[in-house]
Amino acid sequence: MDQNQLKQQVGQKAAELVKNKMIVGLGTGTTVHYLVEALGKRVAQENLDITGVVTSNATAALAKKCGIQLKSVDEVAQIDLTIDGADEISDDFQGIKGGGAALLFEKIVATNSKKNVWIVDQSKMKKQLGAFPLPVEVIPYGSQKIFARFQQAGYHPTFRLTSAKQKKKTDSGNFIIDLHLHQIDQPQTLATQLIQQVGVVEHGLFLNIVNTIIVGTPDGPEIISA
Ligand code: A5P
Repeated sequence: MDQNQLKQQVGQKAAELVKNKMIVGLGTGTTVHYLVEALGKRVAQENLDITGVVTSNATAALAKKCGIQLKSVDEVAQIDLTIDGADEISDDFQGIKGGGAALLFEKIVATNSKKNVWIVDQSKMKKQLGAFPLPVEVIPYGSQKIFARFQQAGYHPTFRLTSAKQKKKTDSGNFIIDLHLHQIDQPQTLATQLIQQVGVVEHGLFLNIVNTIIVGTPDGPEIISA
């Protein structure tokens, strides 16, 4: 089974968690793509009545195409369940997200959800966080100054670029600086330091957000709970 088949497997499995009348947070990325397609099928075939709250323009476009009605996070009282992908998950259920540059909306939706579930192929499960570059979303104004501070701190920053070698802009018009840390020994301390920097909007450390993960393996989806 290749990685895409594992992503499809967990996307489809996670769609089974959604019940009628639920308000569902829909993450972003290639794994969530399969979830949204599977949910769209359930909406059409079972007449499932759900409302999606999306985390990116890309997911909004796909969800609409799949016939899922949408509301913004500000239009709903609370989200029942959010299902999202992740870039790296450690043994203790902490994660790095933002490989698709959607971390800000993803964290807003996740922190307004009663329950969060991550869906990943098995390659994302790690003992410790840090091999995946940690995304930090920054306001363009003053971003060179933040970049220089990250360099001084030894974080090995790089601006995320588009294929045309322009600085990548998020859905909110911000830049992404990726930190090449290789190993994060104290995620909570780092998270606090990053968010305290003026000009940092959000970072990709998602700590204490989920307690259920669906992992795609060649033997089938494995549901693990903290
Ligand atoms: C989007 O910004 C990310 O947080 C994604 O959820 C994450 O990168 C996982 O993406 P894939 O499902 O495409 O691997």
